[in-house]
Amino acid sequence: MADGIYRFPEGFLWGTATAAHHVEGNMNNSWSHWEAMETGAVFKKQKNGRACEWWDGRWVEDFDRMQYLGHNTHRLSVEWSRIQPEPDKIDESALQKYREMLEGLQKRGMRPMVTLHHFTNPMWLENEGGWLANSTVDRFIKFTEMVVDALGDLNDFWCTFNEPMVYAVQAYLVAMFYPGKRNPFKMYRCAELMLRAHAGAYQVIKSRYPNALVGVAKHLLKIDPLPPKIINGLPIKLVESVFHRAFLEAMVTGELRLPLRKTVVIPNLAGTYDYAGLNFYQRYRGGFAPLSPKTFFLKQVPDDESPPSPPMWGEIYPQGTFERINYIWNMMRKPIYITETGTPDEGDTVRPWYIARMVHSVWQAINFNVPVRGIYYWTLLDNFEWTAGYNPQFRFGLYATNFETQERTIRQSGEFFREISLANGLSSDMVRKYVPQLEEKLFHGSPGQKEVKLPSRA
Ligand code: BGC
Repeated sequence: MADGIYRFPEGFLWGTATAAHHVEGNMNNSWSHWEAMETGAVFKKQKNGRACEWWDGRWVEDFDRMQYLGHNTHRLSVEWSRIQPEPDKIDESALQKYREMLEGLQKRGMRPMVTLHHFTNPMWLENEGGWLANSTVDRFIKFTEMVVDALGDLNDFWCTFNEPMVYAVQAYLVAMFYPGKRNPFKMYRCAELMLRAHAGAYQVIKSRYPNALVGVAKHLLKIDPLPPKIINGLPIKLVESVFHRAFLEAMVTGELRLPLRKTVVIPNLAGTYDYAGLNFYQRYRGGFAPLSPKTFFLKQVPDDESPPSPPMWGEIYPQGTFERINYIWNMMRKPIYITETGTPDEGDTVRPWYIARMVHSVWQAINFNVPVRGIYYWTLLDNFEWTAGYNPQFRFGLYATNFETQERTIRQSGEFFREISLANGLSSDMVRKYVPQLEEKLFHGSPGQKEVKLPSRA
């Protein structure tokens, strides 16, 4: 018998998130091109290859796994390079396959959420200038039309862009994604064009399906300066203003404000979001490192209490979810979905703890009346992880994937997240079973989360 439960509101969405390049396999897009270039950006020059073989039909068994997990939603992305392999060619069979996937989710009781852009582009688009060319805005709007006309009767929940600022940084500032540029003004331009494309895509979807929900999945880091804050707060201000505030604020006001650049007014952008999507993973705690532009002048000093994390990942800090939800709520004032959250952990020693603290942190936000409506765990199964390729240090799955045999094995954290989803809550029984070291903290009157602050009422 449970003696305590953090219960979630009825109809709360529990699911996982995936994206095409992570799972489908046999890609021919900007990312597979980047892998083939072997620039050294990708771990051991690995290639995406077969990934998790979704395109060859393995989505069916993996959708059964989602159903086993008791999920009522799943977030996936459609691959532009499959749907429009050439500028003047639409591949109807690709659209048909996505229809089958969406029907497959519905048949299993899951509401789909479809992402239109998750870090990949057709190469023909890159050759036209990619996200620096004005024409790309129109191209994306037309692509949205194609997808919504083909799939709109099966999906009413859209994410136009996944982590636009992460994409802009990786592709145009730190040269980790194709086309591998290092120019802050190109990064700015990419962000601006994505905002313009989002505004157009929003109108397209809403004109056809006025009740559809449309938004963006925005990545936020938690960043905490150590004293003296006057110095250590400097890089943090920069990160907050460029990577966090600018894009969200533009969606609210229609104006993009970035350091060292004139304010850009983007027509039809203000208010183009029906929800706020939050991708939250890690914290950077620390200070000013003037000689380290690569890390945005941030020096990381993780808390001793935090579990060890892989290189360049930041601090695993699920208890920061509450504060980041609060940040996005104060800016956007629309229902919030945690569109991604998770941790790399091949051995599954940290993930159950991560899940318990993250779910508890989301529950706290709901109990301050912040309308959080769902959690998409990143991710269902181990898959291809961008520059980390198939590096074992970056395994995020509730299921482990054996990439030789394509066998999947559920992890303890998968069973744990299943119990949470089925119960629509986190109980002391579950915590005792999967993360006993947290029982005292979460269920015996000592929540002890230093960073919990009351949301300010705007
Ligand atoms: C991205 C995912 C990625 C995950 C873990 C997010 O930034 O949206 O595609 O796999 O982080 O790194």
